[in-house]
Amino acid sequence: MTAMDTAKRLAAETAVQRVEDGMIVGLGTGSTAYYAIARIAQRVQQGLRIQAVASSARSEALALELGIQLVPLSSISGIDLTIDGADEVDPALHLIKGGGGALLREKILAMSSNRFIVIADESKRVAQLGRFPLPVEIVPFAANLTIAKLRELGCKPSVRMVESQEYKTDNGNYIVDCAFGGIADPQQLEARINAIAGVVENGLFTHMASTVIFASQDGAISVLEQSR
Ligand code: 5RP
Repeated sequence: MTAMDTAKRLAAETAVQRVEDGMIVGLGTGSTAYYAIARIAQRVQQGLRIQAVASSARSEALALELGIQLVPLSSISGIDLTIDGADEVDPALHLIKGGGGALLREKILAMSSNRFIVIADESKRVAQLGRFPLPVEIVPFAANLTIAKLRELGCKPSVRMVESQEYKTDNGNYIVDCAFGGIADPQQLEARINAIAGVVENGLFTHMASTVIFASQDGAISVLEQSR
């Protein structure tokens, strides 16, 4: 395991300490969320009783394989706690997410959660969002027109590809990675992007994280709480 993986695991295991008996827990997606799911599964084996909802087919398969009880989203009215990773975190705890392509389902879980805990290694901490190209999920219909509207917002858009084919999300849509370089007003940009017909959702998560847990490669943990 690399030092980076150790940091991801440490952040994840610190977050999982906050999971309690009886909770409905949202499971994130990505290499950091993987460690949270694995740790939750360990605690379930030790007797923790929870129900979980997953933010992607990948996390759902992992949870099932590790013995975590999943419930359909249609059967619940809210989530107690969601734990997920991020691609960038700014000082106001605004995020860029969607590097793993699961941003729509991740945002649905985050907005329905009483608490949304973000876990990350220190490399994800930034002064300003935008160095990481912002993932935007769009419907395939007239994708070129939607992409032209994204370009008008000042980014360099690029359709995510896998083996020469457009990458398809769990919802059957495309991801456009939008290189902005820097994002001065994340909240405004989040709203402007979602106002484009053809956009399903974008990876800016503003005013959503309740807590961010960073871990560094030397084992230091820093916990930032959102002031409400
Ligand atoms: C997936 C995500 C991930 O949380 C984000 O990409 C971070 O992933 P990782 O923990 O692998 O760095 O938003 O859609």
